[in-house]
Amino acid sequence: MNVRVGVFVCNCGTNIGGVVNVADVVEYASQLDGVAFAEEGKWICSVDYLSKIKESIAEHKLNRVVVACCTPRTHEPTFKSTIKEAGLNPYLLEFVSIREQSSWVHKSNPKLATEKAKDLVKMGVAKAILLEPGEDIRISVGKNCLIIGGGLAGMTAALAVADQGFKVDLIEKNSKLGGILNKLDTLAPFDIDAGEIVNDKIGKITKHDNIKVHTNTELEDVKGHIGNYKVKLGNNGNTEELEASTIIAATGMNEIEPQGLIGYGKFPNIITQLQLDEKLRSKSLGKVKNVAIINCVNSRNEERGCCNIGCLVAIKNAVTIKELNKDAKVHIFYRDINIEGEDVNYFKEAVRKYDIKLIRYPDDGKIEVFGNGKNGALTLKTYDILIGKEFKINPDLVVLTTGFQGDSTVEKLRGLLKVSANPDGFFQEAHIKLRPLDFANDGIYLCGCARNPKSIRETIEESLGAAMRAGIPMKKGYVEAEGIVADINKELCNSCGLCAKTCEFGAIEFVDKTQPPNVIKALCKGCGTCAAECPNDAIDIVHYTNEQILAQVDAALEERPETKIIAFCCHWCALGAVDIAGVSRFEYPTNIQIIRVMCSGRVDAKFIERALELNAAGVLVAGCEFPTCHYINGNDKCKDRIERLKKKLSKKNIDTSKIWDVWLSAADGPKFVATVKNMVEELKLGR
Ligand code: FES
Repeated sequence: MNVRVGVFVCNCGTNIGGVVNVADVVEYASQLDGVAFAEEGKWICSVDYLSKIKESIAEHKLNRVVVACCTPRTHEPTFKSTIKEAGLNPYLLEFVSIREQSSWVHKSNPKLATEKAKDLVKMGVAKAILLEPGEDIRISVGKNCLIIGGGLAGMTAALAVADQGFKVDLIEKNSKLGGILNKLDTLAPFDIDAGEIVNDKIGKITKHDNIKVHTNTELEDVKGHIGNYKVKLGNNGNTEELEASTIIAATGMNEIEPQGLIGYGKFPNIITQLQLDEKLRSKSLGKVKNVAIINCVNSRNEERGCCNIGCLVAIKNAVTIKELNKDAKVHIFYRDINIEGEDVNYFKEAVRKYDIKLIRYPDDGKIEVFGNGKNGALTLKTYDILIGKEFKINPDLVVLTTGFQGDSTVEKLRGLLKVSANPDGFFQEAHIKLRPLDFANDGIYLCGCARNPKSIRETIEESLGAAMRAGIPMKKGYVEAEGIVADINKELCNSCGLCAKTCEFGAIEFVDKTQPPNVIKALCKGCGTCAAECPNDAIDIVHYTNEQILAQVDAALEERPETKIIAFCCHWCALGAVDIAGVSRFEYPTNIQIIRVMCSGRVDAKFIERALELNAAGVLVAGCEFPTCHYINGNDKCKDRIERLKKKLSKKNIDTSKIWDVWLSAADGPKFVATVKNMVEELKLGR
C-alpha cells in the first residue's frame, strides 16, 4: 500500500500563527515525499476541526497522520482517538510540537521559528512514513490480592481490600499478626494501647470471610504479572501455591541497634526507644528519676536522613515516664524537631504540661555518656547550643532514639518481585510524587514502613491508599497498556541474554543461550533500554524503532547540519521541562531540534554517532534527573552508555565535546534553556 501522509498544521490562534508562518509550513509540508494532503487549521484540536480531520482521512485516503501543533504530553490522546474514529490505527499518528518547541520559544525571530517548524514537520513526516500499526494490550485482572506483612499496614490494607469484596491472602513471617506494634506500649499521638489496636484488627481479620491469614509464612517465589501472579509460599518447610491478581508489600521496618554509639552495649541503663517501649508494655521499667532521651542517634548524618518519627516517639515515651512518676526529670536532647500538622499541638502541649526539658545539642552529634562509678549511675555531657555552655546531668536511664531500616526480607523480596529498594532496605516507589504507593511494575503496591518510617496515622492513610490502588484494576477487571513494547528479531538475536539482565521490569524471559529470549508484553513498559543495549540491534521498540528515530535524525540534518543540535528528550521530565520553557515563553536559540523518546534509556549510541557522522553541530541527551527516571534507571544506563561512547570515540580521535547530556525535573524549563544557550555558546554556533 502506498503511504499517504496527511499533515495538519495548527495556527492555535496567535499562539503559533502569531510567530510562525503557518501557510508557509503547510506549503513546505505538501511538497515532502509521502505527503498526500496538508492543511492549515485555526484550532485543530477543536471538535469541528477534529471532524474535519476525519473527513480528510476518508476523502484523501490518508493512511498516516502528522499533527503539528502543541505538545503530545497533553493532546496526543485526543488526536489518537480521532484517527481511530476515522478507521485508522492510532499508532499511525505522529505528533509534532511547533508551539512549545518553536513559536513560544523563538518569538523574537519569526523567520527562524518558521524554518524550525518546517524542520520539525519534515522530521515528523520522515517518521510517519515508517510507522506501523500497533495495538494496545489488555490484560484481565481477577479479584484476589496477596499482602506481604501482617503489621499495622498489612492488616489495615487487608481489611480495606477485603471490604471492597476482594479475596486477600495475608502472609506474615512471624507466628502472630501485629508486627512492630507487638513491641510497643502506646501509640503517639493518641496514647492508645498498641495491644488494643492489634487485637481489634486481628479480631476483624479473623471474622472476615474474604481474608485468609498465613502466619509463619514467607514468599518463596513469584512468577507472572498483574492479573496473573503464581505465588509459592513457604511455611516451616512446607510449600503452598496460590494465585494473585495484585500484590501489596507491607513489610514494615526495624530499629537499628546503635552498637558502640553513646555507650550503648556498655551500660545496661542505656537502651533504645523500642526497648523502652517493651519495658513499658511489660511494666518492667522500674522507677526512674532522671531520664535523658537522645534523638537523632544514627540518623541525620551522612549515611541517613531524618528518621521521620523519632521526635514523636520521644515525646510519647517522655509523657509515659512522667505519668508513671510525675517527679521524674526528663530531658530530650534534640538537633531539630521534626513534627508537623496536628502533631505539633500534641508536642507543645506535652512539653508544657509535663515540664519536659528540651536541650539543643550540637549538629556534630557530640554528646558523651559515661559511667560515674556510683551504682551504675551515668554522667551525660554535651554542649547546649541555645544557652551557649556545657550541659551536664546524671541520668539513671538514657534512651536513644535511633534510625530505622527496612525489614530483613526486603533484599529477597526485591528480587522476587523485581522492584527497587534503597540501601536502607526500604522499598522504592515508582515516583515519589506521581505514584507514591505503586511500584514501577503494574499490579504491585507498597505502603507503611516498608517505604520509609511512618507514624501510625500516616501508616493507616497509606495502607488505605494502597488498598484502593490495588482495588482499581481488580474492580475494573482488566488493565490496558499502550502497545509501545519491545520486539525481538529472532534472526538477529544471538541469545546473549543481555536484554533480560538490562530489563528492570522482568519483561524479558531468558531461558538459556540456545534460544532467543521472549518479551512478556504485559510487563514491558517500552522504555527501550534493552533495544539500546542490544549489541546485535536485534530489539526494536514499537513506535520508536531504530529506523524511525534514525529517519528523524537524517531529516533534521539534511540541510545546514553544522548549525543544528539534535536533542533526544525523554517524554516525561525532559519534555516536561521543554514544555515548561515553552509555557513560560523562555526564549532560546533555534538551533535545537528535538526527537522524543519515551526514556533516555532508549537513546542508542548509534543515534548519537549518526548525528555526528552527518555533521551535526552537537547532540544533547536529556532525561529525568536522578533518581526519578519513570522506568527506574533508564537514565543511569543512558549516562553510562554516553560515557562508553565518548571513550570509544576518543580512542578514534573523534571530538566528543559536541556530546552533552542534561538531567531535568519536569519543572526545569530554565535549566533546559540554560543548557541550550551554553551549548550554542560553547560550540560557537550561529544560524
Ligand atoms: Fe526520563 Fe527515563 S523517563 S529518563
